[in-house]
Amino acid sequence: MKNYFVIGNPIEHSFSPRLHNYWNKIHNIKAEYFKKKLSNLEMEGFINDFRKKKISGVNVTVPFKRSVINYLDILSSEAEKTQSVNTITLDQNKLIGHNTDIFGFEQAIKKLNFKVCGKKIFILGAGGVVPSIIYALDKMKASSIIISNRTKEKAEKLKDQFNKINTLDWGEIPDFDLIINATSLGLKNETINLDFSNINKNKLFYDLIYNPGETNFLKEGRKLGNLSENGKLMFVYQAQAAFNLWHGVKPDINKQTLELLNL
Ligand code: ATR
Repeated sequence: MKNYFVIGNPIEHSFSPRLHNYWNKIHNIKAEYFKKKLSNLEMEGFINDFRKKKISGVNVTVPFKRSVINYLDILSSEAEKTQSVNTITLDQNKLIGHNTDIFGFEQAIKKLNFKVCGKKIFILGAGGVVPSIIYALDKMKASSIIISNRTKEKAEKLKDQFNKINTLDWGEIPDFDLIINATSLGLKNETINLDFSNINKNKLFYDLIYNPGETNFLKEGRKLGNLSENGKLMFVYQAQAAFNLWHGVKPDINKQTLELLNL
């Protein structure tokens, strides 16, 4: 039996084991997938076990997507460009860092039939996943990407990586076609203290959060006459790409898969 892990801190909320173990079962793969809460101090020992092949594959979540890079040998070009790793493989004794969040976000947006090309995008937040979102939006040819973060310096810092983006003070709302909540506000039913009442209708409100299924941010967007969508599909597609990297199998994403994540 091979062992796979998602590491993070906190990690209790993760649905990755449920999804991966379901796919292991239906594809007859002799593997088990666990979640593991890790401290910074435990990272080195964990990676050593991975090198010794006690572990066969790893997903990485908050807050280790960037810091884990120090322990790896090779990065995919997308992981390199975003400095963000969410999936690790071991190939010929080399630990390789991949970023499947980009694919996950791209697929999720495509499934909505929203055309990013030529659109104005507004992102709230500047945390670990935001470089992947910017990379995907840039790839899909967004016309502008504006970032607003409570701590403005963190949004400014992203300009070192992506010269196309602009920043705004927290509280300012620009004209946009798609707004993305990439903050952690909403995980515990918080509201975001921003006033959207002056924007026109028919925008897309997208929240990276999928638990709860409808955050106050999405509720408000919907009530104001906009399309709204949570981060469930992004989560499922990043998992599908990780599963494919480890097992060479691309599981179907169907009603049953999505029902696994009904909370
Ligand atoms: P990290 O920043 O460590 O990568 P994250 O969960 O990926 O963690 O990101 C949390 C995001 O939610 C950040 O953009 C954070 O803003 P700061 O950079 O100012 O901390 C944002 N966030 C968290 N609590 C918030 C709050 N009460 N108001 C506004 N933004 C908040």
